[in-house]
Amino acid sequence: MYRLIRAILFLLPEEAAHRLGMWTLRWLGRSIAIANWTRRRALDAQSDLGSQIAGLAFPNPVGLAAGLDKNAEAISGLFALGFGAVEVGTVTPRPQAGNPSPRLFRLSSHQALINRMGFNNCGAEEVAQRLASLRWKPGPVGVNIGKNKDTPLERAVDDYLQCVDRLATVSDYLVINVSSPNTPGLRELQDPDACKGGWRALRGAFAREGDESHPAPVRTC
Ligand SMILES: Cc1cc2nc3c(=O)[nH]c(=O)nc-3n(C[C@H](O)[C@H](O)[C@H](O)COP(=O)(O)O)c2cc1C
Repeated sequence: MYRLIRAILFLLPEEAAHRLGMWTLRWLGRSIAIANWTRRRALDAQSDLGSQIAGLAFPNPVGLAAGLDKNAEAISGLFALGFGAVEVGTVTPRPQAGNPSPRLFRLSSHQALINRMGFNNCGAEEVAQRLASLRWKPGPVGVNIGKNKDTPLERAVDDYLQCVDRLATVSDYLVINVSSPNTPGLRELQDPDACKGGWRALRGAFAREGDESHPAPVRTC
């Protein structure tokens, strides 16, 4: 089955294969009963691998990293596959198209992909609405946040603050993305002196948005 599906997907250009995968996962997640059944089957062989980290209960240690579901469209379908956590994004305050295509390349001999997507996403507002209407969530849902490409670096913190404002209350944790090589200058924000008080403001905003029943933790990547 795996070989057949792989062969079909490899007939398609990279991004078309991704779109087809996302469409299938959205479809899978439409029925909670089917998604739950699929998840139970996927986790059949697992013993109790659950753990508690930063106040969050992870049913198993395998989480999905950001980049696959950039717009929070297929969270239930992804949980149906058995993931212990799903991280969506990277999400920026305003929608943006990302880099021009081609921007995703198969490296078949290494069983790998090279990507320079550039944070293509539908923006914090649309993602927040989707997260608010999520009906089934058997593990933590994180949101990876970034800055818009056209926001100058010295105002980057404002972008992260906007994302915290809109997304902290509808997610379980946030990841501050300062590592993508595909947004010019982003990695300069890793410098501890960059934005100085800005990061403190971000921490403050984060504390405000979280409350005791929903203490969304934060990490950087
Ligand atoms: C097509 C593609 C898009 C990605 N987009 C993002 C992204 O938007 N934000 C992010 O933090 N990481 C992104 N990543 C990186 C992944 O989250 C992940 O860190 C990377 O694929 C390495 O995962 P691995 O160590 O499990 O192989 C992307 C990766 C790929 C292949």
